[in-house]
Amino acid sequence: MVTHDIAVIPGDGIGKEVVPVSLDLLNVLADIHGGITFQFTEFPWGCDYYLAHGEMLPKDGINELKQHEQIFLGAVGDQNLVPDHISLWGLLIKIRRECQQVINLRPVKYIEGVSSPLANPNDFDFMVVRENSEGEYSEIGGTMHSGPDEITIQNAVFTRKAVERTIRFACTLAEERNQKVTSATKSNGIVYSMPFWDKIFAEVGEDYPKLEKQSQHIDALSAFLVTKPSSFDVIVGSNLFGDILTDIGAAIMGSIGIAPAANINLEGKYPSMFEPVHGSAPDIVGKGIANPIGQIWSAKMMLDHIGYPELATLLFNAMASTITSGIKTPDLGGNQTTEEVVDEINKRLLADS
Ligand code: NAD
Ligand code: IPM
Ligand code: MN
Repeated sequence: MVTHDIAVIPGDGIGKEVVPVSLDLLNVLADIHGGITFQFTEFPWGCDYYLAHGEMLPKDGINELKQHEQIFLGAVGDQNLVPDHISLWGLLIKIRRECQQVINLRPVKYIEGVSSPLANPNDFDFMVVRENSEGEYSEIGGTMHSGPDEITIQNAVFTRKAVERTIRFACTLAEERNQKVTSATKSNGIVYSMPFWDKIFAEVGEDYPKLEKQSQHIDALSAFLVTKPSSFDVIVGSNLFGDILTDIGAAIMGSIGIAPAANINLEGKYPSMFEPVHGSAPDIVGKGIANPIGQIWSAKMMLDHIGYPELATLLFNAMASTITSGIKTPDLGGNQTTEEVVDEINKRLLADS
């Protein structure tokens, strides 16, 4: 019997609703497999923890996380309790950085039966590779003066190392998929970082002669995600561009409630982290209607990552067919609860195995 030791952080808001049901499904999959078990260690870190302890996680929290194989996280943030820059930099971004989860991998895929805002959603299926350690997300800057002369400077950091590994990851992924990579740029308006990004895209691209490679300005690219999403295979972008593109991706998929993500530690030295794209959704917390699909699909990505592609496919099919059959939460145009959706997925898992 192989035991997989997973750190679990439900976090805030609907994270506490969609994480436990996803763990139940992972346990069902372990039973179906017969040769594995999951050992989940839960950490109660988040905004409530901050109110009680004055920090988002204990001093040795990151070291504790590093002892585990992977991290499964819900959502962080409750602006009624803690300002976002404190809660997010204190927990989510801290984990991504300290565990060197340098790539954020976010699939965008059409699932039949969703109510996409697109008139003809087609069969789009692309992957966004987001740089996850630097870029526009920096603590370098400051504020000067006050009143009408007040100035704030926010620096962005682009290192050759990080840009290169992100683009290389995207190109390698495109080779395994449909041979096309699109780089998000803005070199017409941003004079240092984006020409640097483009230069490295061109350099790395030379190692991938068979790939179809294109650069698109982030503004035009955002529009193309809406007008012709099926033309994309792999999209690679900086931290902020990747963040924004994946909310657009989530929107065309039908709801931010279904979009998943994997924060990858490339060397396997520290745990990777699996979490949905959405946040803590304070407007629906406690109503029992949070869409569990983004969290469950993130569990699917974790199964792929730890080497169980068959279980991952089983989970994906059960999840997608549940949506297609019309059993879905209100954000997707349905009227089912979180629990009803999970029960149906569970039923399908058992029927398919
Ligand atoms: P959000 O994703 O929490 O919510 C945006 C909208 O989408 C809301 O109307 C919400 O009800 C809906 N929604 C989100 N997830 C849903 C789901 N699973 N099912 C149904 N509907 C869902 O974004 P926000 O309102 O900008 O942020 C709320 C808090 O979460 C903030 O503190 C923010 O900083 C934080 N946040 C955290 C993460 C993360 O932990 N990865 C991501 C985004 C936002
Ligand atoms: C995400 C979120 C975070 C990000 C926020 C909450 C800091 O939007 O995971 O997409 O910008 O990375
Ligand atoms: Mn985001």
